[in-house]
Amino acid sequence: MARRGNSIIKGLNINTIITGLNKAYADEWLAYYQYFIEAKVVKGIMKDAAIAELEQHAADELRHANMVADRILQLGGTPLLNPQDWFTHTNCGYEEPKNFDVVSILEDSIKGEQCAISVYSELADLTRDKDIVTYDIVSQILADEVEHEEDLQALFDDITEFITDIKKNIN
Ligand SMILES: [Fe+2]
Ligand SMILES: [Fe+2]
Repeated sequence: MARRGNSIIKGLNINTIITGLNKAYADEWLAYYQYFIEAKVVKGIMKDAAIAELEQHAADELRHANMVADRILQLGGTPLLNPQDWFTHTNCGYEEPKNFDVVSILEDSIKGEQCAISVYSELADLTRDKDIVTYDIVSQILADEVEHEEDLQALFDDITEFITDIKKNIN
């Protein structure tokens, strides 16, 4: 635990920060696995573009899990040690892919990103002006999640537009 580092935290219980970060940590692992498996099973039109995006997001979520775990340790906490705990601590849950079609996979993923944006926005509100280091980390992750939502939405729009054009040409 970083004693001097933690002494600069003002007006906020460190355990509250650790609890919030552990919940986000559970979300990141579940998001990582969701993207990992979606990239494997996705089917349909323009799936190569979707796979590239999903794999990139998986790598980003794993990097976020690393950042959050390191901060929990700095604060004197312990990152969740058992994967079973991911399901009891998660904010955003896990959206098991049931329909492997690219449009449905992208819809599931966009929902996940929107949840992540809310989670990190709340953590930024909690730590702003109180725990500068955590604030900086959650702000960086928040920016990534906003970019993720945008990337997925843009791909979703391209694919659905493409499908509409094909249908028009057939009729
Ligand atoms: Fe993330
Ligand atoms: Fe994300």
